[in-house]
Amino acid sequence: MIKKVILSNFRSFSFFQKEFDKINIIKGKNGTGKTNLLEAIYFCLNGHPFFKNLNRVKKDPNKPTHLNSNLTNDTIHIAIEENVKKIKLNGKPAKVVDLKKQFPCIDYSINSFISFKNKDYIFSLIDRGIFSQDKTIIDKILEYKKLAKIKKNLIKEDNMNKNAINIINDRLIETIRDISKKRTEFIESIKDDICTCFNKFHKQKLYISYIEGKIKESTLKEELTRKKTLISIKKDILKITVNDMDIFLYSSVGERKIILLCVVLTVLKMYNSHRLLPVFLVDDLEGDLDRYTQKMAFEIIESLPNQIFITTLGSYDGYNVINLTEELRS
Ligand SMILES: Nc1ncnc2c1ncn2[C@@H]1O[C@H](COP(=O)(O)OP(=O)(O)OP(=O)(O)O)[C@@H](O)[C@H]1O
Ligand SMILES: [Mg+2]
Repeated sequence: MIKKVILSNFRSFSFFQKEFDKINIIKGKNGTGKTNLLEAIYFCLNGHPFFKNLNRVKKDPNKPTHLNSNLTNDTIHIAIEENVKKIKLNGKPAKVVDLKKQFPCIDYSINSFISFKNKDYIFSLIDRGIFSQDKTIIDKILEYKKLAKIKKNLIKEDNMNKNAINIINDRLIETIRDISKKRTEFIESIKDDICTCFNKFHKQKLYISYIEGKIKESTLKEELTRKKTLISIKKDILKITVNDMDIFLYSSVGERKIILLCVVLTVLKMYNSHRLLPVFLVDDLEGDLDRYTQKMAFEIIESLPNQIFITTLGSYDGYNVINLTEELRS
């Protein structure tokens, strides 16, 4: 559980510190920094902001940025000087992967929602779910990124070493197949739970499946002539339909938001069943949802055993409410 964060020179905050409870409601007018505070928590637990690059995280570009967080048994300190990030876990240098392995965190945010079509978010969500039961997924993803980078450099060289490219390609394809297989099995294992969750909101028929992208022999040849890598894990697709209609083509914004919430809640449930309790970050719970759905979504979320941070424009009584409009005034 995150007990406290102290931020300096992070996004809209010159200096900000706050202690937290199990359920935390972050409210305030538009632009007061609710999402920025959520991103600071995400940054502490993941070692990087929502979108990985460090552009624009500083308020004053000429000063360092510091994010400190006190967890139940650990402290995390992230410092950004110039454009270099340094992470310390309990006073010792640490890497992004150390934080990710130790402090699971699931975010359901307008940022990720916008990126719902952008595969990075949804694939990362699936990988987080797999991680709850199979820690090797992180190493597989790192291996994939490393091989993809080596191949990209090899293919751009003037005197292409076709032999080396072929060797890397074989390993890359094997890694992609490994990851795709894990993702396919994971989606198969949670699809019924996602449907059950969705049916609390709507009675329509939801169908979800992971489809592996085909790697053709001709693609490999094309890569060499075009000097471009065309084999990627991003050729895979997460197919979701409601009443046989592709949600990415047909569903309303609110409908997509509910479906995404159901995927997120099911991934959380998977973690919780392994007695790992990720911190759950919810950005703008009510936006685009009707009253009934808002109420239902909040009831499900508040009953979770996880530590929860919700940003909102609404009002919630009886919880730890952080009113940024007032906090920043004083
Ligand atoms: N690096 C930065 N330096 C200064 N200000 C920044 C920086 N990054 C973001 N901001 C400011 O933070 C504000 C947006 O904050 P944020 O998105 O957290 O607001 P919010 O409270 O979530 O608003 P909404 O209710 O609209 O979701 C904007 O005014 C933006 O200009
Ligand atoms: Mg916001």
